Amino acid sequence: MLNIKKRLIFVSPFVLRKFTTMKENRGSFSGKLGVVAVAAGSAVGLGNIWRFPYIAGENGGGAFLIVYLIFVFLIGVPVMLSEFAIGRKAGCNAYGTFKRLSPKGGWWLVGLMGIIAAVMIFSFYGTVAGWTLEYVKKSICNDFAGQDVAALAQTFGDFTSQPVMPTVWMIIFVALTALVILFGVEKGIEKVSKVLMPILLVLIIAICVRAVTLPNASKGLEFLFKPDWSSLTFKGVLMALGQAAFSLSIGMGTMITYGSYIKKDTPLASTAIEIATCDTVVALLGAIMVFPTLAFLGAESAGGPGLVFITLPAIFQAMPGGYIFAILFFLLLSVAALTSTISLLEVPVAFLVDEFKMSRKKATLLSSSVIIFLGVFCTLSFGLLSDFTIFGKTIFDLFDYTTANIMLTFGALLIVIYVGWFFGRKKFIEELTAGGKGNVKLAKFISILVKFVAPVGIGLVAIGSLVIGGIV
Ligand code: PFF
Repeated sequence: MLNIKKRLIFVSPFVLRKFTTMKENRGSFSGKLGVVAVAAGSAVGLGNIWRFPYIAGENGGGAFLIVYLIFVFLIGVPVMLSEFAIGRKAGCNAYGTFKRLSPKGGWWLVGLMGIIAAVMIFSFYGTVAGWTLEYVKKSICNDFAGQDVAALAQTFGDFTSQPVMPTVWMIIFVALTALVILFGVEKGIEKVSKVLMPILLVLIIAICVRAVTLPNASKGLEFLFKPDWSSLTFKGVLMALGQAAFSLSIGMGTMITYGSYIKKDTPLASTAIEIATCDTVVALLGAIMVFPTLAFLGAESAGGPGLVFITLPAIFQAMPGGYIFAILFFLLLSVAALTSTISLLEVPVAFLVDEFKMSRKKATLLSSSVIIFLGVFCTLSFGLLSDFTIFGKTIFDLFDYTTANIMLTFGALLIVIYVGWFFGRKKFIEELTAGGKGNVKLAKFISILVKFVAPVGIGLVAIGSLVIGGIV
């Protein structure tokens, strides 16, 4: 009995649901640690290590970082708490949560948009996750040995522009995620990630130590930590909000779904702050790995989606034991990506199972097939389809830009408007404090952020993103 309880701490909602269908009632994470582990597993991923450094690099470094931090804590945490609160209250998937809490309004559209966003994110995320697998292989074969930055950039370009292998790796990654959801989760993917993620963190810290001790490192650190406000554009501000939402896995269905498995007596506020802190520390370490290395290599600060795949192999060559470091790093990065893709796949699967009474197997097959279909177009955006653009963006860029900067920011906006103005302040504070047990003052402060600060902040940025993004 105790064993089962212990196991429930680190299993995904899938298991809980499976478990509870058997028991005719929904299960729950057994405590705060479980919630933090599962949600941080979703939050920490390629967004922190692959996306954050290059988005920060392209948008001004230090100034971007400050705006990003403000967004994470003043907007991201309130949005995450809003999602947890309504998910827990309704005990349902993203679409079902709105349908159940507000059957009459059109709020269910917000849930539906989240489900579409999850499918689209997985479609381009799978491309990059596939690259990490190729880089595990390359590391094992010691392919980077002796390559300078130009050669590493060439290696990256040559690989990603091929039609076959990147597609094969993407399909393998989606299949792996589907497999874990279907069979492996009981064995405790969360348990596994609970062991592997701290190892990844140790590895990242070791790489950071090497990065900051490289010649010229201070230039890179200066770029990251010394804000040059003149280099921050309005578009950079939009990108900071989009990156915050993407990195925290908010503005769509994930945290609503996870919220539905949080026990009633778990106070929410401190939980979300811990998850956001975890996520931010990894993103910062990601950037600390990359920028000093760039300065050492004498390369440009901006670098696009290839940034991490070019700079890290360079730093591994400058490290003792770099061969092993490279293999371990890319392997663990794949695992970090996997804990995020599991949470992405769970969103459409839970929707299909709950709303269409589909079997879990069918729902997983259907969702994965759609993701692979779209994923092929995203993957080919770096080669065969690189000239095929919509609104001036490749399919990969379009999916990335549209989800992070538009769908997630609009999703987040509508979620805080719903919670701040329709859900009811009393109910919200009750959820945040677990019926008055948690910090009431903090809960009241957060309810103000949800009602006023977050909607105004996101609203301004979201409107800007429509205009500047050129989508309309
Ligand atoms: N937060 C993940 C990352 O930073 O890699 C990406 C992600 C996962 C976004 C799950 C959205 C989501 F629902």
